[in-house]
Amino acid sequence: MGTFILTSGQIIEFCTVCHNNNSGILPNAPQEVKNVLSMMELANTVVSWSEEFVKDAQKVKKSTPESEKQLALAVGYMKQARLSWHTFRMEDVSANIKNAHTAAKKAREDVRSH
Ligand code: HEC
Repeated sequence: MGTFILTSGQIIEFCTVCHNNNSGILPNAPQEVKNVLSMMELANTVVSWSEEFVKDAQKVKKSTPESEKQLALAVGYMKQARLSWHTFRMEDVSANIKNAHTAAKKAREDVRSH
């Protein structure tokens, strides 16, 4: 990936050069990858929100051990999602993204409920 990152739209364009209905080589692969990438972008945003949220709570001593634990989990799952990306096993990537999303939400909820 190095110095540039493809957006989900560019991915589709690039991949459909080979993966399309004419070639018949896994024509659904680009769409599937694009969907997972969009989920990854969304989960990244949600995890960042939770990071900010928990940081603000820490400043006013309102943060909870559970929220910090969930946030650490969320960050860890996102890291796993990015690593599993290179395996092209989209079900592994999705599972990590979903876990990250859930943990990030729990982190915020736990702060709110205290
Ligand atoms: C130069 C042509 C070409 C391009 C560009 C290309 N692919 Fe492929 N891809 C192939 C071929 C050929 C296969 C093997 C198909 C098979 O095994 O029948 C393949 C296989 C795959 C597989 C299945 C891998 C597996 O082990 O099951 C996935 C997923 C995939 N491509 C996704 C993508 C994505 C996402 C992109 C864009 C980032 C992309 N491909 C770009 C030609 C291409």
